[in-house]
Amino acid sequence: MVYIITPPHRLRGTIELPGDKSISHRAILLNAVASGSAEITNFLTGADCLSTIACVQALGVRIERQGTTVRVDGVGLRGLREPVDVLDCGNSGTTLRLLAGMIAGQEGMFAVLTGDSSLRSRPQQRIVAPLRALGASLDGRRQGNYAPLAVRGAHLHGGAYELPIASAQVKSALLLAALFGDAPLTLTGRTDGRDHTERMLAAMGVEITVDMPVIRLMPPVYSHALRPLSLRAPGDPSSAAFWWVAAAIHPDAELTTTGVCLNPTRTGALDALRAMGAQIEVTNQRVEGSEPVGDVTVRSSQLRGITIEGALIPRLIDELPVLALAAACAEGETIIRDAQELRVKETDRIATAASGLTALGATVEPTSDGMIISGGARLRGTSLDSHGDHRLAMTWAIAGLVASGETTLRGAGAVDVSYPEFWSVLARVAERSNV
Ligand code: S3P
Repeated sequence: MVYIITPPHRLRGTIELPGDKSISHRAILLNAVASGSAEITNFLTGADCLSTIACVQALGVRIERQGTTVRVDGVGLRGLREPVDVLDCGNSGTTLRLLAGMIAGQEGMFAVLTGDSSLRSRPQQRIVAPLRALGASLDGRRQGNYAPLAVRGAHLHGGAYELPIASAQVKSALLLAALFGDAPLTLTGRTDGRDHTERMLAAMGVEITVDMPVIRLMPPVYSHALRPLSLRAPGDPSSAAFWWVAAAIHPDAELTTTGVCLNPTRTGALDALRAMGAQIEVTNQRVEGSEPVGDVTVRSSQLRGITIEGALIPRLIDELPVLALAAACAEGETIIRDAQELRVKETDRIATAASGLTALGATVEPTSDGMIISGGARLRGTSLDSHGDHRLAMTWAIAGLVASGETTLRGAGAVDVSYPEFWSVLARVAERSNV
């Protein structure tokens, strides 16, 4: 699918966001093994979360979806059935890694997990090695580092594991596996990735203590069941970030995103944009279910370059491509470092973001763990490709709102992975003068 984007004369509007992707996945996976039914509203209907639904249905769980409302009839901790075919996780790393953890503890069950060519080229040793240490039996291509992954459910033990990278997918795979273990699991090290799994497990009655950086989970298997957890998925801050950057870099803009998840493990993009001088207002802050939410308004801003590094990185990892675009439009230099994880996302986002920004006329130097962006560029419309990466597709669409002339985007359909309504929202908020 090819889209052509030209700059509108102004951006105005209020945007109700789709449900958070990470929370939508977890709401399905955790409720699948709860004892009873749960209803999830504002569920993200992006392709990634639909992959999770299909895989969990293949494990024998009844799930009914009507639009953005999903009912999951949990089968209890011991009720999953062996799938009769390969589980296709599509483009979704979260589906594959969290499911691998969950299936690893289903004694006697055999399952094969695979996905599209992007997912099959992403490293899995990060879950395979620690799951094996808990007693799991799993393997894959190249010594278990690449999908398809074959998992043979086993009797799992507890133990201690120090997370070497701040990956919420790895952390969550281990916590899900530990639900089926025979002893407590203690996680230390880089436990600072998004904490939705911990919040949901606690709300479902699992004994989990978080005293950062130490997370300890007591397996509920022999004591009690998981309570089903009905919830409304809050708006996805990773989707909202496209509108925040659009408003900040466009000369005549005011956009409000409502009901955004403001969990501190997810608000790094807001912190970075504030540090860059963006005009941001957060209103209507409240708590919905296990998560803080609020409305975020961003107006046209004079941005300046900053350094994005260290503990901030996991809090904005998915927003870095669009923040790099903001940096290209800012005054001065922006340095992004400690973000080597970008190399193993849906694409190598250091390479793909840097080359797209360069094609738009920005001066960008990719580094091993980030990039150096010289701001102040006047972006020129050009021909860009999403490379099948949803977040790049949306980054280039936002670039097209400020680049002179036409920006042609190939592979625009990739947005469906996390934000199917993206193009219709864009058409609504982009006001074009017909005088
Ligand atoms: C996610 C965790 C992050 C993030 C991904 C979603 C999750 O990945 O980039 O989009 O839902 O747990 P990592 O765990 O690889 O950091």
